[in-house]
Amino acid sequence: MYTTHIFTSTDSTNKIAFNLAQDGAEHGTAVIAEMQLKGRGRLDRSWHSPAKTGLYCSVIIRPKIRSEDYPKITLVAGLSVSQALDSSCGIQSSVKWPNDIYINGRKLGGILTESSPLSGGISCPFAVVGIGVNINNSKEDFAPEIAKKATSVFIETGGENDIEEVFQAIRAELLKDIEFFEQKGFSEILVRWRKKDMLQGKLVRWMSQNGEVICGKSEGPDLDGRLVVKDEAGVHHQIITGDVLLCL
Ligand code: BTN
Repeated sequence: MYTTHIFTSTDSTNKIAFNLAQDGAEHGTAVIAEMQLKGRGRLDRSWHSPAKTGLYCSVIIRPKIRSEDYPKITLVAGLSVSQALDSSCGIQSSVKWPNDIYINGRKLGGILTESSPLSGGISCPFAVVGIGVNINNSKEDFAPEIAKKATSVFIETGGENDIEEVFQAIRAELLKDIEFFEQKGFSEILVRWRKKDMLQGKLVRWMSQNGEVICGKSEGPDLDGRLVVKDEAGVHHQIITGDVLLCL
């Protein structure tokens, strides 16, 4: 049985989970909140976290993997969240490199993984996998700037779901997939990931933080978790971070 810390409101479940992990909390321990006041997203963005509509949780993991494999945890978690949502909510979601869950061209959820320092002989390294999923939101619940890009399980299916049940399904799947990753390696994760990859073979556009733009066909993540994009000249680019958009 794994421990779950439940909050009606907090600033960020990732922050609480990180502190718990530093204090020695076990693998599988989770923090879940009904709302967040300072929900955090990737690339220093915020994560809008209104009360009782979405799932906001963070799971502490202490994987038996090499420190250089920690960046792959986000991809593993994306797969777990997508699969758990499909089976518990009866949908068919996809993963979008590196950390998004999509359905019908709109964002359903995202993952923010934060790790303890991994070098310098840290004896008990950990990662906090923060998961945000729009579950029972109606269209009006989204801020105007994200309303066109976001969706929820409710909008897609017309049915409401029990957020805590969805959380339990996601944690169980995540811990199972982390074990799978430890035992079979990242190549086997990739085999499963590619079946859910919404960018596979599609024309995409990527912009680096210094303004460089690359357009090309997505060939999916490589064995290091980087997204491979082949441009029109046939040159392969390995993308480490940033936003990748579909060219529609
Ligand atoms: C993203 O798509 O940018 C990632 C969003 C991650 C949001 C979740 S909500 C629970 C956890 N706590 C946070 O502050 N962020 C993550």
